[in-house]
Amino acid sequence: MTQNFSIDKSMDILVPLAKKECIETPWDRYEKMQPQCGFGELGVCCRICWKGPCRIDPFGKGADRGICGATAEVIVARNLIRMQAAGAASHSEHGRHIALAMEHLSKHGLEAYSIKDETKLMAVASTLGVETEGRSTQEIAHDVAQTSLNDYMNQDNSKGCSWFTKTLPAKRVQKLKELGVMPHNIDATISNIMARSHVGCDSDHVNLLLGGIRGALADYTGMVLATELSDIMFGTPQPVITKANLGVLKENAVNIALHGHNPLLSEVVCDMAIKLNEEAIAAGATEGINVVGVCCTGNEVMLRRGIPLATNYLSQDIAIMTGAIDSMVVDVQCIMPSIASVGACFHTEIITTMPDNKITGTRHIEFSEEEALEKATEIVRLSIEAYKRRDPERVNIPQVKETAIVGFSKEAIVSALAAVNPEEPLKPLIDAIVSGDIKGVALFAGCNNVRVKQDNAYMTVVKELLAQNVLVLATGCGAGAFAKNGMMTQEASKEFCGESLLKILTLVGEAAGLEGPLPPVLHMGSCVDNSRAALVASALAEALDVDLSDLPIVASAPELMSEKAVAIGSWAVALGFPTHVGVMPQITGAPGVVKVLTEDAKELFGGYFIPEEAPVEAANKLYQAILEKRQRLGI
Ligand code: SF4
Ligand code: FE2
Repeated sequence: MTQNFSIDKSMDILVPLAKKECIETPWDRYEKMQPQCGFGELGVCCRICWKGPCRIDPFGKGADRGICGATAEVIVARNLIRMQAAGAASHSEHGRHIALAMEHLSKHGLEAYSIKDETKLMAVASTLGVETEGRSTQEIAHDVAQTSLNDYMNQDNSKGCSWFTKTLPAKRVQKLKELGVMPHNIDATISNIMARSHVGCDSDHVNLLLGGIRGALADYTGMVLATELSDIMFGTPQPVITKANLGVLKENAVNIALHGHNPLLSEVVCDMAIKLNEEAIAAGATEGINVVGVCCTGNEVMLRRGIPLATNYLSQDIAIMTGAIDSMVVDVQCIMPSIASVGACFHTEIITTMPDNKITGTRHIEFSEEEALEKATEIVRLSIEAYKRRDPERVNIPQVKETAIVGFSKEAIVSALAAVNPEEPLKPLIDAIVSGDIKGVALFAGCNNVRVKQDNAYMTVVKELLAQNVLVLATGCGAGAFAKNGMMTQEASKEFCGESLLKILTLVGEAAGLEGPLPPVLHMGSCVDNSRAALVASALAEALDVDLSDLPIVASAPELMSEKAVAIGSWAVALGFPTHVGVMPQITGAPGVVKVLTEDAKELFGGYFIPEEAPVEAANKLYQAILEKRQRLGI
């Protein structure tokens, strides 16, 4: 029955169960929402002031302007850039939270935290121009945190954010500066979008869209600092073998699901789960505590600790239908409020933890860095208590799980390549791209969206590209889709990769001691970790002395839905990457906006959007974009 909704085999078991128990799924709610508002789908509905709402008649028979005179182009552009601002705000708040924690740690110490990766701290300090000679780890960490926080404070708009100017190739930074889209201050850039899109302000769609691109580049800035500082505090991911899908839940364990995006609390919960394991056994859970991940908090702990991933975005509330999740601990972003009502049908404790992310009807345990150990202990003990209330009759764990080799940070990729060529680690990759053994690189990112069959578009597009010898990187719930569906195993490389790609993956995998190929999809981490892919691309561009837009690199978000994904896709375009979106963006009511984003952007940035709902066709378009880049490079 679920074959129309999802290709995740766990859903075949749990969705019928939800029906039987009259528990609503996202697909039920989607059905009740039909027909969805056509004006909204086209993006031509405006609610920015109380003279409205206004809507433009797409058939040209009714209103062609809002009451204030705004055209469809202006309305659509304003709506879009506000999405980019919200996406940038989300990632940048996450980054700020990590930077403040690191500053606090370096100044006063924090019981639950330490600098786990000093090598990375030194590398980041050198990138940012922080003095290291003769200074303590604390002093260096303090200045790295301060430099990061200054990216939220600088008022000199001729000076770009440090994380922006120092992590991207100089050629690209110069180009973006000349186009007037270089962010100088993350907060100010987001605030500028809100201000310029207020009623009666910027009413030129091209100018609005450029403001949105600057916001998207502020999003990149917040993301890259979130990722890099997290690595310093929690460790830089290295390859680790784990499992994915709901079969990772254990019947005889206290199952704690960590969900959201920010690793600050989840890391400490993982530590406390180890410490309190005996308490769980004493409570009757013979297998102790089993921590699993959902969404991007899941990706964070999966990559750094090998914690298995239970599921990705769209099946988060259905996961509770297993009756085996004793607590779902959530932080920020992509948390469906519906987990409260599904949790209420079971014994599951739904625990919110962040002061600005509460859900009515759930328990709130407010997290702070200073009290992290106490709060994590309270959360783990509540989970053990909930386990005691679990009804064994209602436990229904789908026996579906796949092996997943994950943990491909930039550092992990470089070190795997260094096993082939220690002097010039990037050379084997560059040589393979130049020779055509690897045709190009595709980064898969984004969410799940109820408008398309869960995980299906990811799997279809990726198989087409792998067969064409395209190297694949993945993050976020896209990476979750690949992990759950068996695309992170060595066997999958043999099954799906073209011959020359398999040859390279095997060469690198064997040199790195994996006794076989790397997996066909390299899991780079959570959504903020898309910055890792940008760093790999920047390193390649610098090694070849070309701009990012010259490289045969594409991005794809086949099942995107969030404002964050809109922001990420937009900075991918601004960095020069042709970027596929598999769900029609809410912009088609404004042909001028569509033209800027799908055609004119190519001239300006080298990157452009490729909207395409049909997965095979999307893969063809991405492959053609790669070939075009290769042709321009003369390879
Ligand atoms: Fe209507 Fe203009 Fe107000 Fe939007 S800003 S609701 S188009 S009057
Ligand atoms: Fe995410």
